[in-house]
Amino acid sequence: MKIGIPLETRPGETRVASTPDVVKKLVGQGFEVVIEAGAGVRAGYPDADYEAAGARLSDRAGAYDVDLLLKVRRPDEADVEAMRAGGLYIGLLESCGEDAILPSLLAKGMRVLALERMPRTSRAQSMDVLSSQSNIAGYRAVIEAAARYGRFLPMMMTSAGSAKPARVVVLGAGVAGLQAIATARRLGADVYAYDVRPETREQILSLGAKPIDLDLGESGAGEGGYAKELSDEAKARQQAALADELAKAHVIVTTALIPCRRAPVLVTEDVVQRMRHGSVIVDLAAASGGNCPLTVADEIVERHGVTLVGLTNFPALVPADASAFYARNLFNLIEIMVERGESGPQLKDLSADDITAAMLIQAAS
Ligand code: NAI
Repeated sequence: MKIGIPLETRPGETRVASTPDVVKKLVGQGFEVVIEAGAGVRAGYPDADYEAAGARLSDRAGAYDVDLLLKVRRPDEADVEAMRAGGLYIGLLESCGEDAILPSLLAKGMRVLALERMPRTSRAQSMDVLSSQSNIAGYRAVIEAAARYGRFLPMMMTSAGSAKPARVVVLGAGVAGLQAIATARRLGADVYAYDVRPETREQILSLGAKPIDLDLGESGAGEGGYAKELSDEAKARQQAALADELAKAHVIVTTALIPCRRAPVLVTEDVVQRMRHGSVIVDLAAASGGNCPLTVADEIVERHGVTLVGLTNFPALVPADASAFYARNLFNLIEIMVERGESGPQLKDLSADDITAAMLIQAAS
């Protein structure tokens, strides 16, 4: 069975779907691995390392003409054109519900394992790219904030005087939020965090941060570890109750998300106006409309003296580790998809396993 790893062509994308370490394991299991020349270079993995791991270097057409195509970013029409009819695409579709590329994939006779459909169960955790990449985003968001904040994050006592620790508020204590809390704590900041799901309180405390408690009159806990959308009254109550806490913050990292919905507005313009000049807001929800209405997706802007960071691909700023985690996630997924046959690995029935069944999209027969 032939696995292909193409170069990611989306502007700003630096990650690659597999690394030399993982390629070595795949080759050891009897897969033939074809990698497009230069695919790993921006992530710090040169072609020679893939060759040493047993992969064959090829041009773009060769990397697409395979049984299993491993990608990071959603394919475009030209990518679909290059795919081998009847192959399996494993990657993100980056869409909610119907979109233009899926019909093209299905018309080509491709089957798709859409990684965003991975169930949030403990068995699936080691295969979950959304979690591994969000983790990295949470870390990198705080590093970005620290670099753009004109003061120290930790308390500093020097012969020239002392500085108070920065007050960091993290909104949304999911995967990205918890990593942001941990990173800000490691940098010595005074960290506060808020989430609508009550069960996050313990996790916030265990990382040494202080939970912000609000009484919204309803719980935001939804299904599968995700939040549910709040009623309009609860949303208004939340904004008002959070405002004073947020206005005191020097750094805000917002990660509040409900899958496939516009991100909730948590940081209003009024709050931004009240924040101290030089403060920084990193809005990880920028791609879904932002948790702050002043955020501009893919840009860093200044409003009312506050820097708003709307970058939408933080994992691409940590490309070596982001690719390594992504590659390991896919390897763990491939492990449950194949069985060893006389002539090498064979694909199992993907609809028979609850994880692959949840992710599988194929044309109706
Ligand atoms: P997650 O689902 O693990 O966490 C989101 C958290 O937000 C949940 O704990 C949820 O309860 C909470 N939440 C939802 N509505 C809320 C509200 N109204 N108030 C307070 N908390 C609320 O998601 P994950 O994986 O941590 O991702 C977080 C965000 O980061 C998403 O928007 C995701 O798209 C984004 N992201 C951005 C990246 C970037 O480079 N900008 C990279 C990776 C993820």
